[in-house]
Amino acid sequence: MRAPRPLASLWGSINRRHSLAAGDQGANQDVPRLKALAPRRVFDFMQSHYTGEVFVSRPTAISPSEYRRALGHYPTGVAVVTAQEEGGEPVGMVIGSFTSVSLDPPLVGFLVDRGGSTWPRLREVGKFCVNVLGDHHEDVCRAFASKAPDRFSHASATSETGSPRVPDAALWVDCDLDSVLPVGDHDFVLGRVKDLGIGDEGGLPLLFLRGGYGAPRIASLEAEAPGLSPVLRLADLVRPEIEAVARDLGLECAVSAVVAGEVVILAAAGVGTVRGAAATHVGSTYPLVAPLSPWFVAWASEAEQRRWIAEGSRLAGVDFEAVAWAQLEATRRRGYVAIKHRPFASRFQQLFLDRRGIEGSAGEEITTILLEAAANASDSLRDVDDLSVAATMHAPIRDQSGRTVLGMDLIGIKGDEDSTFLRRCRDTLLHATGRATQLLSLA
Ligand SMILES: Cc1cc2nc3c(=O)[nH]c(=O)nc-3n(C[C@H](O)[C@H](O)[C@H](O)COP(=O)(O)O)c2cc1C
Repeated sequence: MRAPRPLASLWGSINRRHSLAAGDQGANQDVPRLKALAPRRVFDFMQSHYTGEVFVSRPTAISPSEYRRALGHYPTGVAVVTAQEEGGEPVGMVIGSFTSVSLDPPLVGFLVDRGGSTWPRLREVGKFCVNVLGDHHEDVCRAFASKAPDRFSHASATSETGSPRVPDAALWVDCDLDSVLPVGDHDFVLGRVKDLGIGDEGGLPLLFLRGGYGAPRIASLEAEAPGLSPVLRLADLVRPEIEAVARDLGLECAVSAVVAGEVVILAAAGVGTVRGAAATHVGSTYPLVAPLSPWFVAWASEAEQRRWIAEGSRLAGVDFEAVAWAQLEATRRRGYVAIKHRPFASRFQQLFLDRRGIEGSAGEEITTILLEAAANASDSLRDVDDLSVAATMHAPIRDQSGRTVLGMDLIGIKGDEDSTFLRRCRDTLLHATGRATQLLSLA
């Protein structure tokens, strides 16, 4: 017979694969002493596992769903790991477990389910590219996660190792397969870094947390963009108004501002109501040039208005003078703008708000969209009070000097609403911008 084991050694045996000699009953006497010290669960665990002879270190009773649910509270980045098979087939899968491993030699790694069908193919190729997705890449992630047939259209570039590459990824790391360590039901894959690069310097990575996607909010990064912090504070002040509008109308309502010549969407409410749109438009930007967003310049100095017109004309290669001055005058007279041409509104959304077209052909697309905007604006100016084909509505939030400091955007009007509802949209928007102006004057 062995003497009763000290308490410390009992604690150790919870975590160690440990077995005492059969027939050793003495350790039983330690269990009541543990009761006073240990949390209830540990005590229950010990009572059910401590047979007097054997301590089993398996913590058992954690079901896969319990494990997933709990671990889902830990945020991860999202990467698409891609490779090109010899026969020409591209392969790729979504990975949340990507991490840096070693500096010298430079190694990165990820954990992959050994039972999956994509991993054996990646392994066979022996080299891969890790594309860390940006916060505007939720659609890319979903395309790869659901194995959408056109998913590789998002990986249109090619890396040094010949793997498909997502052109505007937050970060990409091109690797040769270094080694594979089996761990539980997963393999820990180590990649030897051959080449790497970051995408848009100011871009943020996509995050995955509790089954949802989003972007990090890092105050120090936000403060890096000059001029952003003050307008973010203004946007926060008027947030109750956009929330009320979104609730009241069942549409998305956003607030935007001009920062360094670009319109930036700062906050949004009612997100998810727009068909085919990215999850959120917050953080999207587009250039403030004629004939886009006249509500930001209609009350500005003449010099600013001239710059707006000149820059738009330069980008489009067409003189916008006539239409742009008319737009500014109509915006001042009515106090809001309704964008009426639905195909234009949805192309604008795709190019700028969902940030799908920014790489590659962006220059050409901006020219096209500016020309369309000009044609659309002249059309709208003919019948300014007709809201019947409105796709989006916009109104300024002005400070005490009358200058536009923020814009309020009503997005996602579907096109089948009756004229009473559209008038209610306009009136609700104008009412909200009026109240927002008051809120800012009190702040
Ligand atoms: C956000 C997210 C993160 C994921 N992270 C991993 C991961 O780290 N390791 C893994 O094996 N699977 C991960 N998956 C699941 C794989 O992408 C998925 O199981 C795989 O594509 C299934 O296809 P397969 O059987 O062809 O491999 C993740 C999925 C999502 C949506």
